[in-house]
This record gives sequence, structure tokens and C-alpha cells, in this order.
Amino acid sequence: MDIVELFSPVVIAVLGSCVLFLFLRWQNLRGPPCIQGWVPWIGAGFEFGKAPLEFIEKARLKYGPIFTIFAMGKRMTFVTEEEGIDVFLKSKHVDFELAVQNPVYQTAWIPKNVFLALHEKLYVLMKGKMGTFSMHQFTGQLTEEFHEQLEALGTHGTMDLNNFVRHLFYPATVNTLFKKGLFFTNERKIKEFYQHFKTYDEGFEYGSQLPEWLLRNWSKSKRWFLALFEKNIEEIKADKSIEGHSGTLLQAVLDIVELETFQHSPNYVLLLLWASLANASPIAFWTLAFVLSHPDIHKTVLEGISSVFGTAGKYKIKVSEDDLKKLPLIKWCVLEAIRLRAPGVITRKVVKPVKILSHTVPSGDLLMVSPFWLHRNPKYFPEPDSFKPERWKEANLDKNAFLDCFMAFGGGKFQCPGRWFALLEIQICIILVLYTYDCSLLDPLPKQSCLHLVGVPQPEGKCRIEYKQRT
Ligand code: HEM
Repeated sequence: MDIVELFSPVVIAVLGSCVLFLFLRWQNLRGPPCIQGWVPWIGAGFEFGKAPLEFIEKARLKYGPIFTIFAMGKRMTFVTEEEGIDVFLKSKHVDFELAVQNPVYQTAWIPKNVFLALHEKLYVLMKGKMGTFSMHQFTGQLTEEFHEQLEALGTHGTMDLNNFVRHLFYPATVNTLFKKGLFFTNERKIKEFYQHFKTYDEGFEYGSQLPEWLLRNWSKSKRWFLALFEKNIEEIKADKSIEGHSGTLLQAVLDIVELETFQHSPNYVLLLLWASLANASPIAFWTLAFVLSHPDIHKTVLEGISSVFGTAGKYKIKVSEDDLKKLPLIKWCVLEAIRLRAPGVITRKVVKPVKILSHTVPSGDLLMVSPFWLHRNPKYFPEPDSFKPERWKEANLDKNAFLDCFMAFGGGKFQCPGRWFALLEIQICIILVLYTYDCSLLDPLPKQSCLHLVGVPQPEGKCRIEYKQRT
């Protein structure tokens, strides 16, 4: 055998590998810089998972406005400036449904075919039912619900502020959006609900990615909710049209779900429960915490409340939309708390390669924006780390427009449909708490936890409130 014949397969293999290597390098050169670690599949997962929010910001400082993090088998490409955000919000080649479908399956067991068949119809329904024109329907009931919960808090006390807010928010939201009287009144059951919701919420991000057998407590809480809703589903759907009402948001959602499937109704109840409580309640916490830890703002807010409702705190005041218009500072405080405690990330799936700056982001990547960090860019928000409600004076809130680059509620076609409801209930809650009680914080304003990326950050550590009925 001649020597050329002997070596030719080896030469071809070597040359082939070189070509493949150069091709991959070339492809990678066109893609954004990639942080991928050395461990296969896990990639940068360990470092990223320790403090994901900080990891993202460090990566931006090191690699520039667009970069990819490879972790747990996924490529997440972060965009941090206008051009990338524009693609995130407007490109036909990035998709919301495909980005969230798997997390929805993992966290609520809604299969892909059911989710994709129903998502857009449900979104349109929720957007309408919780749109700005529908808010007047909620004002009265939310006020009543908060009064009822405030009464149960008594004339004075000291409590962890996060629990104080949960105690007001969970029943008020469930009774308003799901069904009047649905929330437990039995103390033991309420405790159980809080405990399971805390476990489910805290584990939501891991639960959306890891196998369930690794998260036993989380899985137990998820099953507890599903069993509870399965048992109560007929009660939830009952007496829809009492007093000519068209039914609650949840009842309308279930009407649509049940056109497609009866089997997954409890799963949709669980998903809506999480969506309606997981962000709004911590934002009410942060708003109260920021206001109470800024004496000048606290004083001006109290003066505003007295000017609209009088000074004494013992009457069951009714809050109307007109009253809210007379108290713009309270809305600004809520929005400023949301700006500072915005969700760590929102995400879309790239379905066809998209060009951003000089890079091509390949299909299959998750395209990510971090509202949390975007809101800390001094180019868009001067003195970004300060709580400055007055910056919201510049926003055209009468026309329902937020400040430029404010993305706490996401953006584009599937922006949060509950945003106007959230703003309404947080404003009413703050007004009623500060009208009813003299409040002060017994601990300094806590830092936010940097552990999670999904949803708004929770406080790290306790912060107690002391409250005393105003006379
Ligand atoms: C301050 C409170 C809230 C914040 C910061 C918030 C934020 C968000 C964000 C960032 C998204 C994803 C949007 C995107 O990717 O573009 C979202 C989706 C959603 N939010 Fe909210 N949200 C809040 C309150 C609420 C409330 C009170 C409800 C009431 C039901 C709600 C219902 C939903 C639903 C159902 C979705 C999914 C929409 C879809 O599937 O297309 N949210 N929210």
C-alpha cells in the first residue's frame, strides 16, 4: 500500500476537524461573547446560580452591551441597550409563548399543546378585564376587602412588614379576582396557605428548571394547591351572575379554559394565583418600606391623605378613582418602588437568527432583558439608586404612559395584563394603612435578595412595622 493511500483517511479527518473548528470559531465570532465555563452542560451554571443578578451586571461591565451566558444546557443572550431592547420588543423572530411554555409546564403542569392553544385568547381576556377602563369595577370591592383585613389587625401591634402586607393582600386579591369569600377565614388554614404559597413562590424559579424530585418541599406545596383547587373548582365557578355581574376574572378565565379542557382548570387557578400575588404583594411591602424610611416623603404623603379624607383614622373611608387622582405622589411612590425592585429578567425565545449591534444571535437562544439593571442605568434614570418619586412627574401617566425604558411590566405584545390592577390595589392599600395607623419601621430598610431572577426581589431579612390606630 502506498504511503499516501495509508494516510489519506487520517489527513482527511485532521483537515475536517480543522475546518469544523474554524467554522465554529467563525460562527462564534459572529455571535455575542459567550461565558460558558468548562463543565459540559452545566457551563457557567455554578457561578451564575450563586448570585445571578450580580453575575449579569459584572458580565455587562466586562463584555459590553450584549453577551451570552451558557448555563444548565441553555444559552441566554442578554441585551442591555436600545438596539437589543428594540429587537426584544418588536422583532417577529422572537417569541414570548415559546420562551415561557416549558416553565409553565414545570410549575403548573399545563402541557404545551393546551398552553399554546389557549394563551392568546386568555391574554386578550385578561387585558380587557383588567384594562384601565375596567378599574372602576374593582375600586369599591378592594377598599372593602382591605378594611376587613385591617380590622382583623386590631388597634395596634408590631409585625414583620412582609407578613403585615401579605395579611392584607392575599385575601383582598383572591376575594376580588377569584371569588368573594373564597379566601380562608379559619386561622389554621390561612397559616397553611401562607406557608405553602411562600414555599411555592420561593422555589418557583428552581421549579421552572430542575426536575421535581430535587425539590421535595416545593413539589409538596404545588400539589397542595392543585388538590385544593381541584376540590373547590365547582364552588369557584358557582353563582357567576349574581346581581348581574358577569363573574370574576378567574371565572371568565375558566370559561375559556373549559372550552378546551376540563382537566387543567386547577392548574390555571394555580398559575393565576401566583401571577396575581407574587409581584404585587412584595411591591406593596417595598412601597411602604421606602415611604416609611424617608421621613420627608412620609410627611408629604400623610398631608395628602389628610387633605382628601380628613385626619382621623377610625372611619371606613371609601376610596374613589377621583381621590386617587388627587394623590399623585402615592402613585409615584408605587412606581418608584417598582422601578427600584423590578424583576431580574424577562425573556423571549429566538426562533430565527436576529442581528443585534454587530452580532448574530442564533435561533434557540433565550433573549433576555433585565428590567432590574435597565432601571439602574443613569442614562435613563439619573441618580438611579435613589428613591425619588418626583421623577415620575415627567411621565404622562394621564395617558397611561410610563417613563422611557421602564420595563418592570415587560413590554411588547404580552406586557403584564395585571399592571393597572396591581397599581390600583397597591395605592388603595397604602392609603388605607396610612390613614388608619400611625406607622413606623423598627428596623432599617432591608436590602433586596439577589438570589432570584424571576419576579420582583424579596427583602433580605426581616423588617418590623409598629402600627397604632390614629385618633
Ligand atoms: C407590581 C406588580 C406586578 C409586576 C411587576 C408584574 C410583572 C409582570 C411581568 C414582567 C410579566 C411578563 C411580561 C413580559 O414578559 O413582557 C407579567 C406577566 C403577567 N402578569 Fe404581571 N406583574 C404584576 C402584577 C400582576 C397582577 C396583580 C396580575 C393579576 C392577575 C398579573 C398577571 C400577569 C399575567 C397573567 C401575566 C402573564 C401574561 C401572559 O401570559 O401573556 N400581574 N407580569
